[in-house]
Amino acid sequence: MSITILAIETSCDETGLAVVQKDHGEIKVLSQVVASQVDIHAETGGVIPEVAAREHVKVLRPLLQKILKEASLDKGRLGGISLDAIAVTVGPGLIPALAVGVQAARTLVYTWHKPIISVHHIEGHLYSALLQPLQPTTYSLPPNSFPALALIVSGGHTMLIEMQNHLQYRVLGETRDDAAGEAFDKVARLLDLPYPGGPAISQLAERGNPEAFNFPRPMIHSRDLDFSFSGLKTAVYYALRNSSLDKGRPGGISSEDVAASFQQAVVDTLVAKTLQAYKKVQPRVVLLAGGVAANTLLRRQLQTVIESHGGRLRVAPLSLCGDNAVMIGQVGLFAFAAGRTLSWQTLEAKARIDIETFTPGAARSG
Ligand code: KG4
Ligand code: ZN
Repeated sequence: MSITILAIETSCDETGLAVVQKDHGEIKVLSQVVASQVDIHAETGGVIPEVAAREHVKVLRPLLQKILKEASLDKGRLGGISLDAIAVTVGPGLIPALAVGVQAARTLVYTWHKPIISVHHIEGHLYSALLQPLQPTTYSLPPNSFPALALIVSGGHTMLIEMQNHLQYRVLGETRDDAAGEAFDKVARLLDLPYPGGPAISQLAERGNPEAFNFPRPMIHSRDLDFSFSGLKTAVYYALRNSSLDKGRPGGISSEDVAASFQQAVVDTLVAKTLQAYKKVQPRVVLLAGGVAANTLLRRQLQTVIESHGGRLRVAPLSLCGDNAVMIGQVGLFAFAAGRTLSWQTLEAKARIDIETFTPGAARSG
């Protein structure tokens, strides 16, 4: 039996829509689109929630028409097959932004008489690495994928999560202050680089010396699996304040060296903590996903370390590292099969949601 889902993602500054279908273990993307607001937020150096929401409102309807047409979907029917449900990100994220997607989903399910699936944004990132691309628009779940250990690194989150099975999550550790992507964005601002900072810093770092500065690797020796990146950002601030950013001048330092040393400190920390969790959980596979998973150094260094300990790393495809609706649809397919559907009245956007208690069957443990 095939399942077909329309997915909507508007939790931050990307408007994502996708139609995905699961048929005998194969997941196909029938159509998808991501409209990024990066250029708009680059002007203000960060995301302003009301501005993000207004943009989602502006583009959502034309994009919806476009992808429904592409998937030959009309009024909830797709080439004679009915659409089974609509999956939407309900949080965590920016409330004004989330509310646009949630309201659109509510209206569509009310009109089309379909069930709705609420998806936790981090579930989406998890599934983007859990499923493996067969071709650019076809994915499958490789056998022996559980238990999985995931490192989710984005602009809003840095988390280590254990998945014993589908839709079951246990948070092993998370950041106590800034997320890894947020640290990239803030350090980029200190270096006068554009938003988002991750790609700009990693590009600059290619020409720098990662050992030029011995920035702190925060909490690397703590026995828990939590992270903290605000001290690292402060260390960069002081390094810049105490010297001039000019390689040519005596005592001057190069922004390339700062970028490379900062990136190395973040990557060393993420890799060390993931290895610590790996030894504890002994998972069948390690997953890496989220916006920062696009970072080449992180992908390379984590793969080397996990493989040297006999493990396997599965990284989200680059096209699914940033926010998108395909990953929300991927969760939706498994959630629908598990009966995790709601009626439109009970759907609500939330700025913060605990992923462990979000789904039935997942228990919080210490
Ligand atoms: O997952 P995402 O698109 O949005 C959130 O849910 O936050 O992640 C965006 C974050 C931004 O902080 C951006 O600077 C970071 O991912 N990022 C990177 C790279 N590409 C994007 N960080 C490091 N290296 C990259 N290549
Ligand atoms: Zn995200």
